Amino acid sequence: VKFEASPEFARSLDESDPLASFRDRFHLPTDRSGKPYVYLSGHSLGVMPKSAKTLVDAELEDWARLGVLGHEEARNPWIPYHELLAEGTASLVGAKACEVVVMNSLTVNLHLMMVSFYRPTSKRYKIVIEKDAFPSDRYAVASQLAFHGFDPKGGLIQHSFEREAFDQLLEEEGDSISLILLGGLNYYTGQFFPLKEITEKAHRRSCLVGFDLAHAIGNVPLSVHDSEADFAVWCSYKYLNSGPGAPGGCFVHERHHKNGALPRFSGWWGNDKESRFEMREQFQPIPTAEGWQLSNPSIFALAPLRASTEIFQEAGMKMLREKSLRLTAYLEFLIGEADLGDVKILTPKEPESRGAMLCLYAEKNGRQLFQKLQKRGVICDWREPHVIRVAPVPLYNEFSDVYRFYEAIR
Ligand SMILES: Cc1ncc(COP(=O)(O)O)c(C=O)c1O
Repeated sequence: VKFEASPEFARSLDESDPLASFRDRFHLPTDRSGKPYVYLSGHSLGVMPKSAKTLVDAELEDWARLGVLGHEEARNPWIPYHELLAEGTASLVGAKACEVVVMNSLTVNLHLMMVSFYRPTSKRYKIVIEKDAFPSDRYAVASQLAFHGFDPKGGLIQHSFEREAFDQLLEEEGDSISLILLGGLNYYTGQFFPLKEITEKAHRRSCLVGFDLAHAIGNVPLSVHDSEADFAVWCSYKYLNSGPGAPGGCFVHERHHKNGALPRFSGWWGNDKESRFEMREQFQPIPTAEGWQLSNPSIFALAPLRASTEIFQEAGMKMLREKSLRLTAYLEFLIGEADLGDVKILTPKEPESRGAMLCLYAEKNGRQLFQKLQKRGVICDWREPHVIRVAPVPLYNEFSDVYRFYEAIR
């Protein structure tokens, strides 16, 4: 289809969109007068599924009615409540249900994963992250280096993951690299990396690999199991629409599940379920990703994630990706039509190398442009020093939202 820059054309795309009815399953934020914003910030905080309230209310009611008995007698008993999320989460990251667990938040999980998978020696101790890695990841890996007695100045490599540059890095530094931590889809540029290829190359040099999937989960189809990565972590408040500070998740490849030699920080919720309440002296880990759990989770925080995961299962990642490719291509087309002078798209052009989000690089006056957009009711976000990030999300955004963005930015 040849795109056109007109409201009628955008509407015609909405009318033929098989996922259009999902928009109504979410609360879309409005200004004080009740006018809906053009919400293009699902990469930052997803909007609220209407069913989240129903599911949270059910748990509040069960708590009121049952107190402690709810652990076993709630309509969805609380002790195994997180298990309700395993299948849906596994399908979102492309893993087996036994390889994923919903718990904690992203940076906490990253540290827990590094306890097990960052095992430096005096010769092999460096950690590689991408050049524009999210600062929290940088703080986390730098502190792990320091924790193990290494100077982050020499031990932390911030590098390009472009094919040639990465090959060269492995050639030169491969023997000294212990861990590669890669943002699967970079938060600042929107680039989606070839995860399997990178992992294969790294493993060939005996470096372990973990992914930060904060911007990838629920955005692009993933096959984390097949990529052979050692671990992955993510949050669920972005594309997964599970609310501010919602619980994150972890993937641990099944080949590591029964490796008793791996160190880990342990807690009772990771203990074998049969003997957990016997409070034995010796910790006996569950032989799945669940074995990395520490504490019993907040049921009220898990309930919105359940609501959202159910919607994802209904819509299906394949259909969502198809719509997402079209939405983002339409956004790209309209940005071209708007003729924004110095403002350029930073995100790769190739659809397979990006997700929903396009990042606009504005060398001059970027912040002012962002503020003007906000005044016109467009909610996207600003990343210092030069980037406006815009994400049309296929579950609830329509092509007409993208058109409204175009009118505003023009
Ligand atoms: C790529 C990335 N990594 C890590 C984080 C930190 O997440 P949390 O506060 O859940 O630890 C974020 C938060 O937005 C993020 O975008």
